[in-house]
Amino acid sequence: MDRYAVVGHPISHSRSPWIHAQFAAQTNQTMQYTAMDVDPEQFEASITRFFDEGGAGLNITVPFKERACAMARKRSLAVEACGAANTLYLDAGGVLCAENTDGHGLLRDLIANHGARLAERRILLLGAGGAVRGVIPALLEQRPAHLCILNRSHDKAVQLAEHFKGEADITAWRSESPFAQPFDLIINGTSAGLHGDVPSIPAGALHARTWCYDMVYGKGQTAFVQWAHRAGAEKAIDGLGMLVEQAAKAFSLWRGVTPQTAAIIDALRLELAAPLPDSRP
Ligand code: ATR
Repeated sequence: MDRYAVVGHPISHSRSPWIHAQFAAQTNQTMQYTAMDVDPEQFEASITRFFDEGGAGLNITVPFKERACAMARKRSLAVEACGAANTLYLDAGGVLCAENTDGHGLLRDLIANHGARLAERRILLLGAGGAVRGVIPALLEQRPAHLCILNRSHDKAVQLAEHFKGEADITAWRSESPFAQPFDLIINGTSAGLHGDVPSIPAGALHARTWCYDMVYGKGQTAFVQWAHRAGAEKAIDGLGMLVEQAAKAFSLWRGVTPQTAAIIDALRLELAAPLPDSRP
């Protein structure tokens, strides 16, 4: 039986085994998908062993996405652009390939599931860590009018904007400076929500039609989704759909068949009633 796994540290919170089991059942694929908690000192050795022993594919999560990128001998454009991979597989020649499906997952959820339009829109990205870096290439492909990065540590936002400069109008913003114009979409890519916190967002960032998207998801409404409703956002969405969509993209890369996601997102919403902490893809 073809073997797959999600690798992280810790990994007990991961919903990926459940999601891939639903995909496999829906598409009649015979496969095994488990969660692997890997000691950070053993990451490279564990990945090599998994594939040497016949493993077919891996999802990679925190804190290993950059190391997965470094290990691969072939990298997709998305992986090259953000320096992080969440999916590994061997090509027909046995070469280790890396893909990053997080950006695709975010776009699928925003555009296909919720009907968002990003072209010509003003987008504010909160955070400047790995999660934000991973979705910037996909967001830029949508040709937004402006992509603005706001981070608690301003230097990191500046570095990220510099890295992607030239591909679009992308800038770093200091939280103390007023916004010239409000944003159409605010995406929270910080890890603040994992502790129930909301990053500080200056007044004036929203207008009456602003949408807010939290890359974190949880049992109930995330802290950022609650904040967005209070701040008057037209729509506030958590990252559950992104989680399922990035998984669906990995599944289709591995199995050559794309699962239907809507029913699985709904079922996962119910599943989350199980007492696990807030998390994200
Ligand atoms: P990940 O790879 O999961 O994105 P990370 O690279 O450690 O994790 O990045 C976490 C991001 O969340 C950072 O942008 C961090 O801000 P700093 O760069 O200033 O550390 C942001 N973050 C974490 N906790 C936060 C909080 N309580 N308020 C605002 N931003 C926070």
